[in-house]
Amino acid sequence: MCGIVGYVGNKAATNIIISGLHRLEYRGYDSSGVALLNPRTSRLNIVKTPGKIDDLETSLAAEMPAESTGATLGIGHTRWATHGEPNRVNAHPHLSRNGEFAIVHNGIIENYIALKSRLAQEGFEFVSDTDSEVIAQLVEQCYEGDLTRAVAATLEMVEGTYGIAVISVHHPSTMVAARKGSPIAVGICDGETIVASDVSAIVQHTKQVIFLNDGDILTATGDNVEVVSVKNVPVSRETTHIDWDIDQIEKAGHEHFMLKEIHEQPTAISNATRGRLVDSEGTTKLSGMQMDPYEMARIDRILIAACGTSMYAGMVGKNYFEDFASIPAEVQQAAEFRYRNPIIQRDTYMLAISQSGETADTLAAVREAQRKGATVLGVCNVVGSTIARETGRGVYLHAGPEIGVASTKAFTCQVSVMAMMAIALGRTRRLSTQVGQRMVREMMSLPEMAQAVIDQEEDIRRIAEKYAKAEDFFFIGRGYMYPVAMEGALKLKEISYIHAEGYHAAELKHGPIALLGEDVPVVGLVPDIQGKDKTIGNMQECMARKAPVIAIATEGDKDIDAHCDDVIRIPPCAEFLTPIPVVIAEQLFAYHVAKIRGCSIDQPRNLAKSVTVE
Ligand code: F6R
Repeated sequence: MCGIVGYVGNKAATNIIISGLHRLEYRGYDSSGVALLNPRTSRLNIVKTPGKIDDLETSLAAEMPAESTGATLGIGHTRWATHGEPNRVNAHPHLSRNGEFAIVHNGIIENYIALKSRLAQEGFEFVSDTDSEVIAQLVEQCYEGDLTRAVAATLEMVEGTYGIAVISVHHPSTMVAARKGSPIAVGICDGETIVASDVSAIVQHTKQVIFLNDGDILTATGDNVEVVSVKNVPVSRETTHIDWDIDQIEKAGHEHFMLKEIHEQPTAISNATRGRLVDSEGTTKLSGMQMDPYEMARIDRILIAACGTSMYAGMVGKNYFEDFASIPAEVQQAAEFRYRNPIIQRDTYMLAISQSGETADTLAAVREAQRKGATVLGVCNVVGSTIARETGRGVYLHAGPEIGVASTKAFTCQVSVMAMMAIALGRTRRLSTQVGQRMVREMMSLPEMAQAVIDQEEDIRRIAEKYAKAEDFFFIGRGYMYPVAMEGALKLKEISYIHAEGYHAAELKHGPIALLGEDVPVVGLVPDIQGKDKTIGNMQECMARKAPVIAIATEGDKDIDAHCDDVIRIPPCAEFLTPIPVVIAEQLFAYHVAKIRGCSIDQPRNLAKSVTVE
């Protein structure tokens, strides 16, 4: 999705903005641009281009006046097209009619057509097809000497979502930023302020960050930041210390972020579980849930709202809550939740699962559930993200930054966190100390188990090579393996562009089996779990239709070879933990298929890391 980086301070803005935009590349974009205030002419110079940040750098070198490159005030943007195709004109920043105001915008202005036609009648000309350009024109129209007030007046007229940064020739050392529904983080350094839509563009400069809330307007100089509401009432926002360091957002010798993040899973799971597994009491401690045993015992229903990979993790979690804590649990696609008028009873708790903590549909589901009186807990990775802040309680994954667009370590940490939540809830109910202890000990061996799968990467790569030319795939499983089948198919399709479907193994013969043939490989998920034999039966049905079958099975399962063409082996583990090693095998398989096919693994076409629009 779109990204914003703005700088005001005492250094050359260009390098800081460009390096920040590079850090935001992972979010997905199709064009980019930079506006700098030329200190000599006091004009705003803008360079924009479709394509990658490298193309923007080339255009900057060719087109930006030399003195502007020393500018100490500027804004930059990566655009993921929504209104208007990804070309130079539609790229941000957008200039106002008189060239005195430049803006960058993330989000969607829903009433832009009405605003645009009113402004056009008043003589404003528009050059782009975007919704965002109206913001630049409105700021110009509302300006009476105070940039912050002009932005506030503009925002009172717009409907929709925004994260914006605005600069003007009239204020050579000031940047104004604001948010509603689209994140803005503000990095505070000595004599400099960096505004960005994502802290990964900030952490190399400072760890001290303020997160704007919806409705906040920031006025920043190099030495000072002030936050007010749209109604001009000062508000105070706490400074958060970000403990990510720059190494965590570099590739550390791996060819892709996705591969790095797959390999990081043993550490990520250790971090997610560290200090939370209490062997002696056979339980887990998750202080972020902020719940005493009395409250835990009272929960009578859990609603899980999430999207994509997080939703599949939620489906695994549903099984945990029902199996360990006997709490009825339901997973809802977050976009569905907000429009379905769901039933929330007194002791219904919602879990909002989101790696980024910014997914628009999940956030909307959180707000709707809160409106209906549900207690909502966030299961987020990004510290200080909107969902984490608005839920106020929940459990952080501590997986470290996930940069690759395809989610990997977030899934395994989400599953680990929900297993811990279910154990804690189960212990207030029917789960005994002994069973709790056994589960906690099994969880302690998760990092080792994850490593054992990663150690087989070369074997998985060889199998990937054999099947990389296929254009259709099925993943099948049942029980804990059903959501893992869907996640395996999602991983493969998003990075290799192979059409892949995840199905319940039993469902295959209710229709999809018609598609099988020798060109359609089927991945059967058959670790040692309940129902494995039935899935093996379904794999036989596939083989009978000449479909090549790859099994993901438990090490030591000698019989499996007779039911498939190739086997990927995972270490033996407790049934409830099998989603973790199996999904790691799927991630490595998808990664190597995509690599063999020459795909853009970290930034697959059309995808964005954090989906902040509906
Ligand atoms: C797939 C993927 C997406 C996300 C989904 C939700 O690899 O990354 O399906 O899982 O967009 O994102 P979060 O978890 O940030 O809410």
